[in-house]
Amino acid sequence: MSKSLASFVLLAVLASPALAQTPTVSLLIDHGFPSSGTLNIKSTLADVATRKGQAFHFGSTYDTYDPDAAWTSSIFTTFFNHIVAENGCKWDATEPSRGTSSLTGCIGVQTFATSHSDTFRGHNLFWHSQTPSWLPGGISASDLVDNVIPQHVMQEVTGLGADVTSWDVVNEIVGDGVSNGMSALQCVQNKNSWPTKTSDGSSQNLVTDLSFVYAAFSNAFKYAGSSTRLAINDYNTGGNDAKTACVLAVLKDVQAETGIPWDRLAVGFQSHITAAPGQFTSKSALATTFANLATLGATAMITELDVKLSSATSANERYQAAIWGDYLDACLFASNCNEFINWDPRDDESWLGTSSAGTLFDSSGNPKPAAYEVAARLAYYAAGNPELCATAAGTGSCTINITGGSGGSGGSTTTAASVPASTPTGGSPPPAGCSTAKYGQCGGIGFSGCTTCASGSTCQVGNAYYSQCL
Ligand code: XIL
Repeated sequence: MSKSLASFVLLAVLASPALAQTPTVSLLIDHGFPSSGTLNIKSTLADVATRKGQAFHFGSTYDTYDPDAAWTSSIFTTFFNHIVAENGCKWDATEPSRGTSSLTGCIGVQTFATSHSDTFRGHNLFWHSQTPSWLPGGISASDLVDNVIPQHVMQEVTGLGADVTSWDVVNEIVGDGVSNGMSALQCVQNKNSWPTKTSDGSSQNLVTDLSFVYAAFSNAFKYAGSSTRLAINDYNTGGNDAKTACVLAVLKDVQAETGIPWDRLAVGFQSHITAAPGQFTSKSALATTFANLATLGATAMITELDVKLSSATSANERYQAAIWGDYLDACLFASNCNEFINWDPRDDESWLGTSSAGTLFDSSGNPKPAAYEVAARLAYYAAGNPELCATAAGTGSCTINITGGSGGSGGSTTTAASVPASTPTGGSPPPAGCSTAKYGQCGGIGFSGCTTCASGSTCQVGNAYYSQCL
């Protein structure tokens, strides 16, 4: 190769982020867990709850306007067990004119959840965005804190009743330009938007303390069910960073001011992230943050996860699956995390736009590698296995090394693991030419029978221990 051609090739490689930026990853779906076919994980989620010793809410968004009702109904029957309204419970929808409680859409989502045997979480009670037309308007600081917020919170929280796992009480109130060591008030004032500033663009202060936050939390506590968690929810949080420190500082301040018991308080980590190195939080950093909250007695929740891709290549989709797996593992293996929400159920319904390919299901509603991987992680956890290494770090530092179905001594480079293959690949081979009748068992840990289903049925994973011809 001539010197100039060699320099050109080197430059081209250096200039190509796609080549440099998508790590090769190791996944559970490379080890005997399904990577094709229909996913039915409701019973796996029940097994996850058994291991955790508490319900595990694995959900997505829904609103009463729905472009593909049959698919949506099916996915909330077979895959997700938890629902949050994407927009229907926001302030513009629920109080269109001052004092008017308009909860039809919001309650409609809760009713849809109940009719699919799913649980429901509330999003959100206070946010500077998607406010009704009468807000922010000319509302004074004292009117906001003394009347507007208490009335709104009371109307919405009592309207939805006690059957709500958690409420996002305040959404996105911490600034993006914060630095370590800021006080709770400085963190919120850094947001530089209503209601710490007036909304007329003059950058005048409106609320000059945290009384609007206290008003939202104390009224949510007053009217919510006795086990409903009350959360501060924000984006670009979860790791060892100034914004996350701010969110915790605000929560501590709220607790001290309102006296709400720690076990009712929570932090929602929105987690709108991108599949590129440095654009998401590592599993170990998430674990540390969750543990810090556990020390306080508070709950951690992943509330709006989506993982944007630069393009939907196979390598990127595998990387997306590894990141999703790490976030899920961080929650599964934390004592204080039991809500995990995937924002928008499929790519063509995503607020990021179809081309971001940021969800678990493609635009035809088919599961992507990330959907199979999260199903595998749930089954792996339900079967009692130890935590895997951080797959999103790439195979350079984390390789899953398990022997499908044999209960072997493998694991990953950083954790030993036994094997919860959903269909047997070890032991004695199933009889040749066999056929299992519809509704018969066709797989699961310890199962060594026939894995071929009679025509007209396919082998579907119920949980790590039981697959059935359906
Ligand atoms: C988004 C919805 O997905 C969109 O449909 C809507 O147009 C704008 O809001 N953080 C939040 C969510 O707390 O409420 C936002 O949802 C996404 C960012």
